[in-house]
Amino acid sequence: MCGIVGYTGPRQAYPVVLKGLKRLEYRGYDSSGVALLHNGKLSVHKKKGKVADLEEEMIGKDLTAQIAIGHTRWATHGEPSDRNAHPHLSASGKLAMIHNGIIENYALIKQELSNKGYTFHSDTDTEVLLNFIEDIQQNNNCSLEEAIRIALKRVTGAYCILLVHQDNPDTIIAARKGSPLVIGIGKGEHFLASDASPFIEYTKEVVYVNDYELAIVKPDELILKNLGNEKVTPYIQQLDIELAAIEKGGYDHFMLKEIFEQPSTIYDCLRGRLDASAGTITMSGISEHIEQLKNAPRIMIIACGTSWHAGLVAEYMIEELCRIPVEVEYASEFRYRNPIVNKGDVIIAISQSGETADTIVALEKAKENGAFIFGVVNAVGSSIARISHAGAYTHAGPEIGVASTKAFTGQLAVLCMMALKIGMKKGTISEERYKKLLVELSDVPEKVASILKNADEIKTIAEKYKDANDFLFLGRGYNFPVALEGALKLKEISYIHAEGYPAAEMKHGPIALVDDTLPVVFIATKDSYHEKVVSNMQEIKARKGMIISIITDGDTVSPGLSNDYFSIPEADEIVAPILSVVPLQLLAYYVGILKGIDVDKPRNLAKSVTVE
Ligand code: AGP
Ligand code: GLU
Repeated sequence: MCGIVGYTGPRQAYPVVLKGLKRLEYRGYDSSGVALLHNGKLSVHKKKGKVADLEEEMIGKDLTAQIAIGHTRWATHGEPSDRNAHPHLSASGKLAMIHNGIIENYALIKQELSNKGYTFHSDTDTEVLLNFIEDIQQNNNCSLEEAIRIALKRVTGAYCILLVHQDNPDTIIAARKGSPLVIGIGKGEHFLASDASPFIEYTKEVVYVNDYELAIVKPDELILKNLGNEKVTPYIQQLDIELAAIEKGGYDHFMLKEIFEQPSTIYDCLRGRLDASAGTITMSGISEHIEQLKNAPRIMIIACGTSWHAGLVAEYMIEELCRIPVEVEYASEFRYRNPIVNKGDVIIAISQSGETADTIVALEKAKENGAFIFGVVNAVGSSIARISHAGAYTHAGPEIGVASTKAFTGQLAVLCMMALKIGMKKGTISEERYKKLLVELSDVPEKVASILKNADEIKTIAEKYKDANDFLFLGRGYNFPVALEGALKLKEISYIHAEGYPAAEMKHGPIALVDDTLPVVFIATKDSYHEKVVSNMQEIKARKGMIISIITDGDTVSPGLSNDYFSIPEADEIVAPILSVVPLQLLAYYVGILKGIDVDKPRNLAKSVTVE
């Protein structure tokens, strides 16, 4: 996602838009830019980096304009760079556009335009849509508004676009589908943005544009139409929330917002890739290297922290579905222990930020030894994405909260698709199991949404156990890494000591810790290990441990062994970690809040550990 701002009215447009971009930087911050229209002159200024870098770049330039659009980017197509930053200019140089979203069928449209002689100055899907609109306008000799409607009926994907044309000195045309757009109604002026934070001090009267609507915005006129060119009556609402709350989408913290974003971020991760009805997974980064991946003698996974936990889940997935030996390595250990890496070894690098120093150095070392690097990264164009020979982005959008939540579930979704694709090609899973798991994976976003509806149950559990000094998290099989992740979330957010363990490992020592003051969280979802986990629960109960269990809907055994439990929808054990981690994210969040901790910025931590 990204930040979009537009202004048309009597004020100097540039300062309004620039300040608005700074307020939207939490939505994406790898590059930014503005387009200014003044006396029939259209100028575009854009730069890689933060909005402050753009601001510096603009010093000394003629910034006079009563109309401007601005964009702070979260790259999806084309790495962060000056050339890929928005706004983009059309071939004629008369039309400028900014875009939030993903045009899924841009490649086909780009090919059509290239065949007509169009050339492109960026790698983005946005520039393709822009030239598609201009091409339609020129070939059909129609209005810009009509050309936009025709183009938007052709494209698939998500968009919020703002366009300004050199010959329309006071008009911004906007349209949206799937990406947010709100219009601020001023007196003789209008503001457009991804959320209301850029203009909340100017007006609290807003119109939320709906999907498939087009807005023609002048200083003293707002016309809304649908793609059928029928007028829509703008529904004006009065905003009653403050600036700080808007940036968090109405949530108290970015961490909670990002936990609740997971149904849509997991959907975004699967979109355009997984098609359960067709039985296909489309991931060019894998297809282009499928022979090397399926024939790998072993696969090493290198990561840190939560990403390392995703790697452990992937170990179970890949070994079960692809029958390829997997080793999961802490990057910080791998880089110093003179590891054995042979030419042709496959390494999967997992990283939300793509800038973790330990992981970068470990990969550079492995690459020197001839390994093939496949990156599973959230930040497009980041260092790890660039070091990798191939990869797949998690498309979770910017993750602001220091504790990784939506990136983790995005990583699991990508890794599951990867294991399925390799296993199918290798013939190590049946067509039937493959198709069943595709359906299972496509059902995950809805199941996560149903879990989040019961978040208050977790809040109640958090209130009961928030004063404990220690926690244990126990799980088996696919849920063992989830136990580790649950412990890490609690530690880093509430500062309570917590350990994750394989449930069966307790009897080899740690069970000595168990008494009636120790909460023990069991991830006890219904899977091939469930009976064994129930036995482990009985061992803990016999020693008066307090059991909190994450169970599957309909489980009639575990509740009787648990002091408290939280039930989640049934799912195949391979995709279950994407579900079972969500209540643990919420548990960490609510305990942290109840202990009065700034959960978005816990002490001693940084969002991206770019130092050793
Ligand atoms: C996770 O909640 C932590 N913030 C931390 O462990 C993080 O996962 C780790 O630093 C790795 O970061 P990366 O995924 O950006 O490489
Ligand atoms: N898909 C567009 C790009 O990669 C827009 C990304 C965004 O929403 O910031 O430039």
